[in-house]
Amino acid sequence: MADDVLLEVNQLKTYFYMGGNVAKAVDGVDFTIKKGKTLAIVGESGSGKSMTSLSIMQLVPGPTGKIVDGAVKLSGKDLLKLSDKQMEKVRGNEIGMVFQEPMTSLNPVFTVGTQIKEPLMKHRGLSKSQAFQKGVELLKLVGFPRAEDTMKEFPHQLSGGMRQRVMIAIAMSCDPKLLIADEPTTALDVTIQAQILDLMKKVQKEFDSSILLITHDLGVVAEMADDIIVMYGGQVVEQATRRQLLKTPKHPYTVGCWKVCLA
Ligand SMILES: Nc1ncnc2c1ncn2[C@@H]1O[C@H](COP(=O)(O)OP(=O)(O)OP(=O)(O)O)[C@@H](O)[C@H]1O
Ligand SMILES: [Mg+2]
Repeated sequence: MADDVLLEVNQLKTYFYMGGNVAKAVDGVDFTIKKGKTLAIVGESGSGKSMTSLSIMQLVPGPTGKIVDGAVKLSGKDLLKLSDKQMEKVRGNEIGMVFQEPMTSLNPVFTVGTQIKEPLMKHRGLSKSQAFQKGVELLKLVGFPRAEDTMKEFPHQLSGGMRQRVMIAIAMSCDPKLLIADEPTTALDVTIQAQILDLMKKVQKEFDSSILLITHDLGVVAEMADDIIVMYGGQVVEQATRRQLLKTPKHPYTVGCWKVCLA
């Protein structure tokens, strides 16, 4: 594996088995993400973007969904060969995750503080008061000036954009090498979207992390991505740098999207 590569996915296959039928959600996907860079996965609904990211984290919904083949190497280590326990550690320490709807990822019955402190104590071994301090620091970083107060609030007391910023703070709490963001701004209105994207770039710089960004918004791609893959029917149909794809898109899906996006 080249020195500048953080994640290498080879021939990944994830299938769903339902009553004799097989849905090939991810069907032989290959890509790499370089250290400190952002790879965007684009593609129409149902093309396998989310299943690709869930496969990397081994969170494919079972028992119907199964990773059937391939390798997912993070800094050279094949994650598909790890035990559940080892993988749980990787999810807390080496990979951070942000999803589309932060209300479903944050637990409504616990305060922001409790939820941000938990991984810091569990994965980084901080004491309660150290975790509180670190939590405050992270919330300030993602734009909560009165972070001490925010720590005491419950998710329903925050707006969608604020919840997403809390999710980013939690995702970054263990200083992950890789941040996986699946449609992180889709549920937000346009001005808040721009703030969240700026914030992701800021934390990426701060932590020198790589980002796997899933979106079907090519405006977001143009803003964020260094490299891009286009998925269709569980396969990668186009792979390019942002520059190449902006200039000369090949796949009809991409051509169509760029036309809409750049109109
Ligand atoms: N829970 C499930 N049970 C059965 N099949 C599923 C399930 N989830 C996904 N699939 C299959 O996997 C394919 C890829 O789904 P995936 O969620 O990865 O799409 P996506 O590209 O993320 O779409 P979207 O843009 O709508 O989020 C679907 O077309 C479907 O065939
Ligand atoms: Mg999806």
